[in-house]
Amino acid sequence: MTRRAVPLGIGHYLPDRIVPNAYFETLVDTSDEWIRTRSGIEQRHFAADGQTTSDLATRAARAALDNAGLTADDIDGIIVATSTPDLTFPSVGTIVQANLGMTRGFGFDVQAVCAGFVFGLCNANAMIVSGQADRLLVIGAETFSRIMDWTDRSTCVLFGDGAGALILGVEDGVGTSQDRGILATDLNSDGRYRDMLYVDGGVSSTGTVGKLRMQGNPLFRQAVEKLTQTADTTLARAGLSADDVAWIVPHQANIRIIQGTAKKMGVPMDRVILTVQDHGNTSAASIPLALSVGVADGRIKRGDLVLSEAIGGGLAWGSVAIRW
Ligand code: ACO
Repeated sequence: MTRRAVPLGIGHYLPDRIVPNAYFETLVDTSDEWIRTRSGIEQRHFAADGQTTSDLATRAARAALDNAGLTADDIDGIIVATSTPDLTFPSVGTIVQANLGMTRGFGFDVQAVCAGFVFGLCNANAMIVSGQADRLLVIGAETFSRIMDWTDRSTCVLFGDGAGALILGVEDGVGTSQDRGILATDLNSDGRYRDMLYVDGGVSSTGTVGKLRMQGNPLFRQAVEKLTQTADTTLARAGLSADDVAWIVPHQANIRIIQGTAKKMGVPMDRVILTVQDHGNTSAASIPLALSVGVADGRIKRGDLVLSEAIGGGLAWGSVAIRW
């Protein structure tokens, strides 16, 4: 028998304020047409004043617990993927733990920018497979609106706020690719590319929070190549091919990156879950948000092979194959 980390429930939360592309026409020299055609984004949600990443994460966690029919007492630990924590410390994970009324177990954060949820899932999978935990809540939550330079048209139009949460439990599989749960993973980073996407402030450098800086075009080229590579690696490790994939649930940064990667993998776009048009790029929250949307509308069903891939600042990138 093989211990497998299997999905038990999923949920998400988006802040009430919806911001259409037209809003940015009043801020910077841009147009709805440019944003739609270059990125696929039509709108995004922004957190209200005073609404923090842990607020969004807690709402998503409660939705996932309801979906799984569990309470916080059933959870052994919380992993939050975020680059926009409420505070430098303590972690968002511990704040969510307290918000949920959890008095046992642990909470901590993982920071791998837009690839954070994939890194968090891999950590959770390792803990479950090795017997350190039986039920974990993995959350991607971000308030990227807080680190935007509102005078920089090349970045401020792209990002949004939100949170998604997935509960993983344990199930005994037989050790084949037909098992439910996480079947294979692949993680990578290469710090030589750190200037391509970064925040120009921090605790031990400037003592300020800083704003997001991005070289969009070179990053775009890296993204399609590295996402295809990691997807191929994960599928090969699981003994599967792109033909076996029921749904690609990619990081939602740009529709052209998503289309380019799916094309290189040989997967048609009608097997890709897309939320970039509605959410923008919500960094570590984008994959759990898209998973939650796909499950809620009935597209992702029990037994489906789901492949998620992401790339972000670092550069850090990776992928995970899950039989739902
Ligand atoms: N409105 C109008 N024009 C704009 C805007 C805007 N909002 N932004 C940039 N432009 C202009 C540029 O100034 C440039 O003008 P120029 O030719 O006169 O110099 C022109 O549009 C083309 O700019 P490019 O950057 O070459 O446009 P591109 O087609 O590459 O699209 C984009 C830009 C959308 C940023 C794309 O490069 C992209 O999505 N990159 C990857 C983003 C990504 O994947 N990030 C990783 C995850 S995010 C994370 O980890 C936090």
